[in-house]
Amino acid sequence: MTTRDELLIHLEEAAGNWVSCESLCDKLGVSRSTVLKHISRLKDDGYAIESVPDKGYVLRESFDLLVPRKIREGLQTEVFGKKDIIYFTEIDSTNLKAKGLAASGAPEGTIVISEKQAKGRGRKTRGWFSPPRDGIYLSLILRPNIAPRSAPSMTLLTAVAIAETLLSVPGLEIAIKWPNDILARGKKLAGILTEMSTTGERIDYAVVGLGLNVNTARFPDEIKDRATSILIETGQRVRRGTLAKEYLKWHEEYYGVFQRIGFEPIRKRWKELTNIMGQQVTVETIDREYTGEVQDIDDGGALILRDETGGYQRVIFGDVTLR
Ligand code: BTN
Repeated sequence: MTTRDELLIHLEEAAGNWVSCESLCDKLGVSRSTVLKHISRLKDDGYAIESVPDKGYVLRESFDLLVPRKIREGLQTEVFGKKDIIYFTEIDSTNLKAKGLAASGAPEGTIVISEKQAKGRGRKTRGWFSPPRDGIYLSLILRPNIAPRSAPSMTLLTAVAIAETLLSVPGLEIAIKWPNDILARGKKLAGILTEMSTTGERIDYAVVGLGLNVNTARFPDEIKDRATSILIETGQRVRRGTLAKEYLKWHEEYYGVFQRIGFEPIRKRWKELTNIMGQQVTVETIDREYTGEVQDIDDGGALILRDETGGYQRVIFGDVTLR
């Protein structure tokens, strides 16, 4: 962990009490000037820290952060988030970090979470807009005992877990769009980036990255017509820690169902939560475009379309637009 992040965690753990500069120097093993430099940068970055000579520093307790302590408090899981929670105030991409950790043996259930991403990554070569403390940028390390060809079902399972989480937000209407988007009024509220490493017919690890727009008030011009947040949809700010914990709970629950029973119950729930069943769609894949009516998803998570000639097409991956 960086000194900056460790310092913030010490302030947060003081739960609204003053922390002296000396104790921070001791705990972090750094000089007074280093503490002062980090405090000043954190304040510049909008962290609600007050400083008073002789007393030291205090972080406003109500300040909504995704620090490990807040995630652990009341977390209703057995594995997800119960092992390591790797926290950053800023990072390039939580998925990149999680992949590095998974490659060095981090166990299933490890999560990487950041308040901000400098290079949040989306599918294909897209980015993910990740402004500080507005969204949830969380990557989960999994070690599923499935063949790589069943990996798309991991993404669909995650979409169901996110949708279940969001159903509890009053005034929010959501739908899953195949394969990995959660939409509200047709705009993107959340995205999933699943990345994995395989050896032959085995998945070594999968990293499932969730980007959820929670309290974002506005988006850059290039995406403002396509993106939305819970704040924009409902007019209400939501505490990100509560949502992150709900998501981990739902994800672990469906992951358990998947391992015990298989994909079928998830497929059934996915179909209830999507708005594309029976719709005429176009799916753009790397090498071609498919059009047709959505009939189903199969047991590997692929989309089944019926085209104008009555023929069936199976599409594994692509971008869907309603026609
Ligand atoms: C998409 O819809 O294209 C997927 C977006 C996934 C974004 C999340 S944010 C946390 C994790 N880290 C990343 O760099 N990307 C994912």
